[in-house]
Amino acid sequence: MTKIEQIRKMQRGLLSWFRKNGRDLPWRHTSDPYDILVSEIMLQQTQVGRVIPTYHAFVKRFPTVQSLAKATQADVIKMWHGLGYNRRAVMLRKAAIALCAKGSIRSDFASLIALPGIGEYTAHAIRAFAFHTKDAAPVDTNIERILKRVFGAHKKSRVEIQRIAKDILPTDVWGWNHALMDLGATVCTARKPSCETCPLKAICRSYPCAGDDVKKRPQPKFANSDRMFRGRIVARLRGKTYDVDALQKAIELPDDERFGAIVDKLIAEGLIRRKGGKLLLT
Ligand code: ADE
Repeated sequence: MTKIEQIRKMQRGLLSWFRKNGRDLPWRHTSDPYDILVSEIMLQQTQVGRVIPTYHAFVKRFPTVQSLAKATQADVIKMWHGLGYNRRAVMLRKAAIALCAKGSIRSDFASLIALPGIGEYTAHAIRAFAFHTKDAAPVDTNIERILKRVFGAHKKSRVEIQRIAKDILPTDVWGWNHALMDLGATVCTARKPSCETCPLKAICRSYPCAGDDVKKRPQPKFANSDRMFRGRIVARLRGKTYDVDALQKAIELPDDERFGAIVDKLIAEGLIRRKGGKLLLT
């Protein structure tokens, strides 16, 4: 099989698999660039199942770029409920403010990547899903894993993988990129890929043991981590303001020094602030 034949076979196989097996997700029913922007920022570090309810509530409460730009940061963080990594909410609001100053969400890569909170992956994703741009190839860790496995390209750099992603794009960039995401989420998973049911098994260089590339790296522990306590602080302050001592007690972190450092960092990042002896969302 020539390279071109292999690519055509991959495109046909994956797109037809996607038509039967693709997930029905709310942001796939819209091409509104704002809705896509919101969904992609939410999906950066949070799994689909957790994003869905918050996404619905968020775009209902802030249906346009303008409404988000006008909201207070505290209100935006409140609506980020359930997602974690609250800094993304701060950046998303900043992006909305920047967009209001500029007019609308533009489809060119340079304008998108210039926005707060938007990196290469998200800029490509917005181009693919909102604008159906023909060279939009978002590469996240899932897509990178699939391409490495299919092309036996484990040693290739991120830049080379990005180039492959672009080279194999079919005309339906919307369907193709969603198909890759769904394959990565349900079949070509990191730890236990289902090689036997994979639509790409006939051309995959890693078939039938794509999972052999799994690195046994321990996941960072969430329990007792700074991230856990940061999340607790923001969750508490969503409901009301707190005296510093009461907040420390409420989040159950007896170590004064550590508590102080976490609070100072949240203040430095602009997520929370002090007012009198109290702490509150910014
Ligand atoms: N992860 C990032 N973007 C996604 C999308 N549009 N659909 C499903 N999972 C995603």
